Amino acid sequence: MRKKIIAANWKMNKTVGESMAFLDTFLLELGDERRVEVVIAPPFTALAKVSERLSASDRVKLAAQNMHWEKPGAFTGEISAEMLRELFVRYVILGHSERRTLFGETDETVNRKTRAALAASLRPILCVGETLEERDGGKVESVLERQLRLGLQGVSPEDMAELVVAYEPVWAIGTGRTASPAQAQEAHAFIRSQLASLGGKTVADKVRIQYGGSVKPGNAAELMSQPDIDGALVGGASLDARGFVEIVKNSN
Ligand code: 13P
Repeated sequence: MRKKIIAANWKMNKTVGESMAFLDTFLLELGDERRVEVVIAPPFTALAKVSERLSASDRVKLAAQNMHWEKPGAFTGEISAEMLRELFVRYVILGHSERRTLFGETDETVNRKTRAALAASLRPILCVGETLEERDGGKVESVLERQLRLGLQGVSPEDMAELVVAYEPVWAIGTGRTASPAQAQEAHAFIRSQLASLGGKTVADKVRIQYGGSVKPGNAAELMSQPDIDGALVGGASLDARGFVEIVKNSN
C-alpha cells in the first residue's frame, strides 16, 4: 500500500509572519493525523522558521519549491541542496510547469536538479504534465513519456524508488478546471507504466504519483479514490489552513 502524500505548494505566497499564523491554525486542526503524509513547501524566505516550528512534531514534512544542481559557489540568486538539508528539508519540487514556462527550465535542467537532489538525499517531487494545446493535439502520452525519460535520465532504479511524481496538467493549474478523476487516473496509469519501463515494476509500484491542478476540499476525495492517484500537490487551496486540513482529511 502506498501512503498518500498531500503537499502544499505555496508558490510565491506568505511572508514569515503569515506562514507562522497558518501553522498555528493548521497544526491545531490537523490533530494527530498520521494516515496521510503531509508536506508543506513554503517560499525560501520562510523555510528556516517553518522548519523550526515543525521540528517539534513529525506530522508535517518540509519541502522546497526549487533548488540549483551545483555545489555551493558563484551562482547569484540560487539555493543549494546543502542549504536545504541544513533546514531539514526532505522534499524538493522540481520542474513545476511555472518554472518550465516562466523561468526557462527544460527537461535537461530538471534532470540535473533531480540527480543533484537524489545525491544529497532530498526526495524530488518531479512535476510533469501537458498543456491544453498538447492535450487537444492528442499528445498527452508523448509529452509525459518525454518528460519522464529525459527528467530521469541517469537515475538508478534504486534512486527512482525515492521519487514522487506530480501529474499537473497545465490547463488545470490555477484555473478552477480540474481533470476528471477518470482523465487523471488514465494519465497516472500511463506514468506508472513509463516508470516501470524505466526502473522496473517493483520500483514503479512504490513511486507515489500526486495529482495537481485545482484540487479543493470538495474534489479531493473522488480524485484520491482512483487506484493510481497517491496524493495531491495543492496550490491555491493550500493557502487556507482550514481548507488544507480538509483536503488532508478527505484524502485518506
Ligand atoms: P492550483 O491548486 O492553484 O491549481 O495549483 C496547482 C499547482 O500548481 C500545485 O503545484
